Amino acid sequence: MRGIVFTELLEMIEDKFGYELVDKLLQESDLPSGGIYTSIGKYDHAEMLTLVTKLSQKTQIPMPDLLRSYGQYMFVAFTRSYRHFVDRADSAFSLLSSVQHYIHVEVRKLYPDAELPHFIIDQPAENHLRMHYISERKLADFAYGLIEGCLLNYGEKATITKTNLVEDGSQVLFDIVKK
Ligand code: HEM
Repeated sequence: MRGIVFTELLEMIEDKFGYELVDKLLQESDLPSGGIYTSIGKYDHAEMLTLVTKLSQKTQIPMPDLLRSYGQYMFVAFTRSYRHFVDRADSAFSLLSSVQHYIHVEVRKLYPDAELPHFIIDQPAENHLRMHYISERKLADFAYGLIEGCLLNYGEKATITKTNLVEDGSQVLFDIVKK
């Protein structure tokens, strides 16, 4: 995965738990990269899971909750680094609907080896968006946080229902219903 995913993770940990914990996690995790990430580098996504698993052990906060917070944090980072994608959309549903056929397509043009999920997206009603997440990386909770971050960015409120479609977490359905 791109370095930005890692630099933001470490920044979130530092913000929420302090630099000492970042230092401890990096020392104890024995990562192939040595924990030195640059925003333009590329690293094994397993390192992200190693770091979040260790963080969960240290903080006693369940993994899904950490991945969700991280997704929220990541969306804010995207609004900084990829402002033009966000400016093009005038609502949360407009942005979320464009993830599969526009945003991630553009990301792939920039980084042909990007590891991106596949989404099947439809809108059964004006206030209801459905996102079917498919990825062997099984990061649906990260997607959950990105959806929440997107809603927050537009100041919109919605109920998000997450349904596991495959037991291993590789396929998950999000029903997002605006209040
Ligand atoms: C401005 C908006 C967005 C940008 C610029 C963006 C860009 C990216 C980038 C750069 C990656 C990492 C690829 C890699 O490391 O190889 C990524 C991964 C990912 N994105 Fe997006 N994304 C955006 C919005 C979203 C939204 C709204 C969702 C969820 C609904 C989403 C879901 C994901 C997930 C779950 C991954 C992790 C990879 C996986 O699960 O297989 N993204 N995205």
